[in-house]
Amino acid sequence: MQATAAPPATATHDYSRGMRIWHWANATLVSGQLLTILFQLVIVNARSAVPEFQAAITKSGGSLTQQQGRALAHVISERIWTWHIWIGLTLAAFWLFWTVMQALDPAGRRFGARLMAAARRYKLAAPAEHADARHALLAKLTYAAFYLFITIMVVTGLILVFADDVPFLHRIEHTSGEIHNVTMYLIIGYIVLHVAGVVWAEVTDDHGLVSRMVSGTADKQTPQDY
Ligand code: HEM
Ligand code: HEM
Repeated sequence: MQATAAPPATATHDYSRGMRIWHWANATLVSGQLLTILFQLVIVNARSAVPEFQAAITKSGGSLTQQQGRALAHVISERIWTWHIWIGLTLAAFWLFWTVMQALDPAGRRFGARLMAAARRYKLAAPAEHADARHALLAKLTYAAFYLFITIMVVTGLILVFADDVPFLHRIEHTSGEIHNVTMYLIIGYIVLHVAGVVWAEVTDDHGLVSRMVSGTADKQTPQDY
């Protein structure tokens, strides 16, 4: 039985080691995935470089047909996809790590319980605490949205990885690709909001928030309830 008083609505807590490892690994891998897409679609954009390949070969006395140029572009593009797939599989492993961690964590630490607690706090908040409780609940709701987005990314990503080998997955490959694509924009939106929100909280009323996500508790009395 836990008989501790409910923390104030604005309080953020110390995150467990597992959660911190997951957070930074996940942030790095998601950024890696976005980088592969930036390279694939913007920086390298191998398909649109075909005329440049042709010009370079012509300049050095050779010739390159459109078809040969495309084959070359395909090789470059496949290299980037290989990175995307391996980072994606690692991301899927971390998603599994998060899921298992949720299942093994004490009930109060699980994300669902923390979300419900924030909702309850918002409902019961005294007028003076209402704005803070709403802010804490909104932050949790964005996390819930992210967990949904990353689940969609992992599921659709795995479908794309195995679509060539499993006939059923092949049939839903196109739809999965579209969902995968659209969800990327939602994840980008989340990251912009999240990083801006965390930095804002850090410099205004929640000093030490980021370092708690890096190194855990500075104050041994603070409960490790995440
Ligand atoms: C791709 C980038 C990122 C993703 C996907 C991401 C994701 C998340 C998620 C899902 C949570 C909620 C954890 C939970 O309570 O269950 C979280 C919390 C947090 N993140 Fe990030 N994060 C990213 C980048 C960053 C960066 C760059 C910083 C630091 C500037 C940061 C600092 C924090 C902090 C301090 C918290 C705790 C906030 C709180 O207690 O309300 N994150 N992050
Ligand atoms: C935040 C994470 C991720 C982002 C932003 C992302 C983004 C994208 C985008 C924009 C595409 C092109 C989709 C299309 O137009 O059809 C793509 C394709 C793909 N993604 Fe992801 N993805 C992520 C995670 C994953 C994961 C977790 C996996 C696997 C487990 C994965 C596997 C794939 C595969 C196999 C393709 C198709 C590659 C090809 O056409 O050869 N992705 N991804």
